[in-house]
Amino acid sequence: MTTIQLPGLIDVHTHLRVPGGEHKEDFATGTAAALAGGVTMLLGMPNTSPPLSTPDVMQATHQQAQANTRCDLGLFAGASPEDIDQLPALAPHAVALKIYLNDTFGPLRVDDVPTLMACFETWPREKMIAMHAEKQSVAVGIGLAAAYNRPVHFCHISRKQEIELIAQAKTKGLPVTCEVAPHHLFLNEEDAKRLGPLGDMRPLLGTPEDVEALWAHINTTVDCIATDHAPHTLEEKASDSPPPGIVGLETSLPLMLTAMYNGRLSLDRLIQLMHTNPRRIFNLPEQPDTHVEVDMTPTTIQNKNLFTKVGWTPFDGTKVAGQVKRVILRGQTVFQDGKLLAQPGSGTVIPKSSI
Ligand code: NCD
Ligand code: ZN
Ligand code: ZN
Repeated sequence: MTTIQLPGLIDVHTHLRVPGGEHKEDFATGTAAALAGGVTMLLGMPNTSPPLSTPDVMQATHQQAQANTRCDLGLFAGASPEDIDQLPALAPHAVALKIYLNDTFGPLRVDDVPTLMACFETWPREKMIAMHAEKQSVAVGIGLAAAYNRPVHFCHISRKQEIELIAQAKTKGLPVTCEVAPHHLFLNEEDAKRLGPLGDMRPLLGTPEDVEALWAHINTTVDCIATDHAPHTLEEKASDSPPPGIVGLETSLPLMLTAMYNGRLSLDRLIQLMHTNPRRIFNLPEQPDTHVEVDMTPTTIQNKNLFTKVGWTPFDGTKVAGQVKRVILRGQTVFQDGKLLAQPGSGTVIPKSSI
């Protein structure tokens, strides 16, 4: 058995569904899935109901997270035109700001210039602004990064045109970074036809050319792998209006290990994409005495082994090159051989000072 040691992985894009979507996921189940996937620190998205766009909701959610999280966790504040004057009051409780420029799950959306300007003028400069931006919206984000000379992070980049635009912005020295989700690297529009609602998410799965373009930039333009872990129940997916989104916390590392096994990227690059760059980009604290032991024995992803509350993944039945064997967080074994050992509340919510 070959064992590889990795630092604790950091996933900067997850939906843990508190408040309002606890039947899909909550802090205890979502962070159980995280640890099972080798993720010891994650960032939670603000498109909850109600959304994390007012200090009251933000503070209450922060407290619930602290009571229930099994790993370390930070929250995004959400930009909303109605609540935009609240941004400075939200900032102390959040790691970063999220702006949704395109249609996706949940009520948060920004499509007017005054709200965008307010975000760039009133959100603290030392905290990141991340965007759900598809196609030409990526150009809007790059323009704002240039106009305000401040960093912008692009979530779940999925198209050839988008990754090439970001590569061009980077050659000009603009402060932009991006993440790619494993499903956009391992699935395409043909899989979407096969999977139906179980392969539906925003951005949609791309063409084979889009997928190849993402792989072509994996060692250069892509800064992070982030899952966009977006749980919805099978019942919801079977309904007349299935919501977009799929889970990813437990399959991200096994899939990226498979890419490494197949020569797509090195172990050093995997660590950059899943630990070093996410920490640097979002200015996240170090986790001392924290690492992940991986067993490089081929295995098969199976729904029955998942810790996420929804219990399904479009990768059910997929063969992968390795899996998490043991996770150690601050010197404690929190996951070992398929068994979860961390208690709810044993993780830390950042920033700590805001409680
Ligand atoms: C996400 C969700 O369900 O919250 N859905 C998705 O398809 N990605 C929202 C998002 O990340 O855009
Ligand atoms: Zn999104
Ligand atoms: Zn998302």
